Amino acid sequence: MSDPRPIGVFDSGMGGLTVMRALMARLPNESFLYLGDTARLPYGTKSADTVRRYALQAAQALVARGVKAVVIACNTASVSTTAVAQALAPVPVLGVIEPGAKAALAAAPDGPVAVIATETTVRGGAYRAAIRAAGGATVPIVQQACPLFVPLAEEGLVEGPIAEAIAMRYLAPVLASMPRPKAMLLGCTHYPTLKGAIAKVAGPDIALVDSAVTAADAVAALLVETGLGNTSGPASHRFLATDAPDRFAHAGEIFLGQPIDPGLVELIDLQ
Ligand code: DGL
Repeated sequence: MSDPRPIGVFDSGMGGLTVMRALMARLPNESFLYLGDTARLPYGTKSADTVRRYALQAAQALVARGVKAVVIACNTASVSTTAVAQALAPVPVLGVIEPGAKAALAAAPDGPVAVIATETTVRGGAYRAAIRAAGGATVPIVQQACPLFVPLAEEGLVEGPIAEAIAMRYLAPVLASMPRPKAMLLGCTHYPTLKGAIAKVAGPDIALVDSAVTAADAVAALLVETGLGNTSGPASHRFLATDAPDRFAHAGEIFLGQPIDPGLVELIDLQ
């Protein structure tokens, strides 16, 4: 049996295309329908209640368009994975927090682990809780919000002196923490694009853990488990945006790593 329906992926904007990129590489036979809530970006500075409401609306819009599973690519919205899964049952829902936490522990089983993410993700402590739940009960964890990484990535300023200076500003206290982290979890969709600058500041002894790649592995496992995989292809990739679809297509290239045909981006209203 092969299920040709698309997998829905959503994010507050374009950053989740880093997760879609990892999904496309890991699951080349699958079709994807990506929703970027560009009208309400950013989520990372909003309250947990508001983000949960937005996440539910986005997931419901994807289900209404016939997706077979939903991936919450946005780390900030992934905090609401359980609530969204309950509302969408029986459609499976997967967030990036749990796979990211497991990957951080795989990279540094005894820690210390540094979690860098948006303000809301750090404030909610979801990665800390997920690391604890995944077996890292005593692992030392240090968290740091890096809000300027989001606009830097969106402007394409992902390397060079500006990106490195800002990375230094955020990471210096993390690196000076005793004991020094062995793994750094990139707990935000935008941060993988800044990996070069982050690595330069963090140094070679800290493993950078990209939750996009580990989330793609988790989706692959879910498809096997549920028998929802598409073995026959061909795959199609379509996009929905809640504002400025042309800008989405243009700026989204930074995150997807390939051009996006503006004709494939549909404007929708989630309200
Ligand atoms: N997508 C968000 C995340 O991964 C970052 C951008 C935002 O704040 O909306 O947390």
